[in-house]
This record gives sequence, structure tokens and C-alpha cells, in this order.
Amino acid sequence: MADDLRDIERGNRLVAAEILVVLGDARKFQSSDNLTVLQKKGLADRIRGGLASLVILTRIADVYKQPIDMERQKNVRRLAQSFGANNLVKFIAQLQTLSKRYPLIEPPIVNSEKTAQVLHETYCAACHDDPVTDVERPAFNLFEQARQQSRQEFLARLIVGVRGDRTTGLRNPFTLRELAALLNYYKSAVSN
Ligand code: HEC
Repeated sequence: MADDLRDIERGNRLVAAEILVVLGDARKFQSSDNLTVLQKKGLADRIRGGLASLVILTRIADVYKQPIDMERQKNVRRLAQSFGANNLVKFIAQLQTLSKRYPLIEPPIVNSEKTAQVLHETYCAACHDDPVTDVERPAFNLFEQARQQSRQEFLARLIVGVRGDRTTGLRNPFTLRELAALLNYYKSAVSN
């Protein structure tokens, strides 16, 4: 595939995923009775960070989109206003509308349990298997997360939430195939 096509695809995937993560976080925030004060603060910070990313990510995705969305910037700004005003019902409805414009297309299912298990044990287990959760932005158990979330939301969190180290910058170091394998691994491990 030509590089620019791959970039378009990556840009579309990232914006779609970020919207679903903010939407998931907004729902968590809305039903936040079981969150500690620290976690609630962390979640609000995450949502604000996600909204800031969306300003840029929607702009990048729209470079290639027709017709041009003249309302885009206004709509993204309205999101921040609703969240700022603590109008979560409106905020969530706006995110759902935005998500329709930038849908997350699921990759084909990759059944590669062994690969995913090795990836998990090598790169993820140390922080995620038995995490300390009473901090602002905790790592959660990924098998539990996969059980609680829809495939779409969990995939979105894999796309947005897995960050590289200093050598890869902030870019997600995994290929879409590897992420699909991880998605299947966490999702199917819980139904065993
Ligand atoms: C050094 C510790 C560490 C390692 C290693 C690590 N994570 Fe995380 N991860 C975290 C923390 C802490 C968060 C929460 C970040 C936040 O809320 O901003 C997180 C967030 C996430 C999220 C997002 C959850 C959400 O609520 O949106 C996913 C998905 C995730 N990690 C998957 C992985 C996977 C898969 C691996 C292995 C490839 C991995 N992580 C490796 C610490 C780690």
C-alpha cells in the first residue's frame, strides 16, 4: 500500500479510536460512584487531554475527507464546552454523533493466541496484571477491562492507550495485526 494511503488509514483509525476512548471515559465519569476522588480527577484530566488531541486528529483526518466539514472546529469546541459545563448527557450525545462521522473499522480477527500471550507477558503484564489502582491514572487489569468493555471500545483503548518508549516516540509500536491478536487474546481469555 502506498505510504500516503497508509497514513490516511492510520489517521482515520486514530481519530475514531480517540473518540471512543473519550466516550468510554465520559460514561465512566458519569457513573463515577465507584471511583476514588483521585481516579475521578485523573479521568477528568484524561478527557481534557483527549479533547485536545481531537482538535488536531480531526483536522488531520479531514484533510482527505470530502465534503469538507465547515462545522468541524465548532463541533469539537462545543464538546469542550459541554464537558466544562458538566453537561455529561449532552457531552455523550455529541461524542456519539462525532463517532458516526469517524467510525472505527475493526481489523479482521487474528487468532494468534501464542503471539499475543508472549507480547502480553513480555511487555504488559508487569504493569497491568496486578495494578495499584488508587492513583490518578491507574493501569487496569486488561482481562477485566476486556470483559467490561465492548470490542470496539477495548480496541480503541489498545490503539490509543499503548504508547511506545523513548525509542518509538509516542507512537503505538504495534502493527494492526498485533493489536488485533491482543484484542482477541484479552477478549477470549475471559470467556474461557
Ligand atoms: C510501565 C507500565 C506499563 C506497561 C509496561 C504497559 N502499560 Fe498500559 N497503561 C499503564 C498505565 C499507568 C495506564 C493508564 C494511563 C492513563 O490513564 O493515562 C495504561 C493504559 C493502558 C490502556 C488504556 C486503558 C484505558 O483506560 O484507556 C491500555 C489498553 C493499555 N495500557 C494496554 C497495555 C498493553 C497491551 C501493554 C503491553 C503491550 C501495556 N499497556 C504496557 C501502564 C503500563
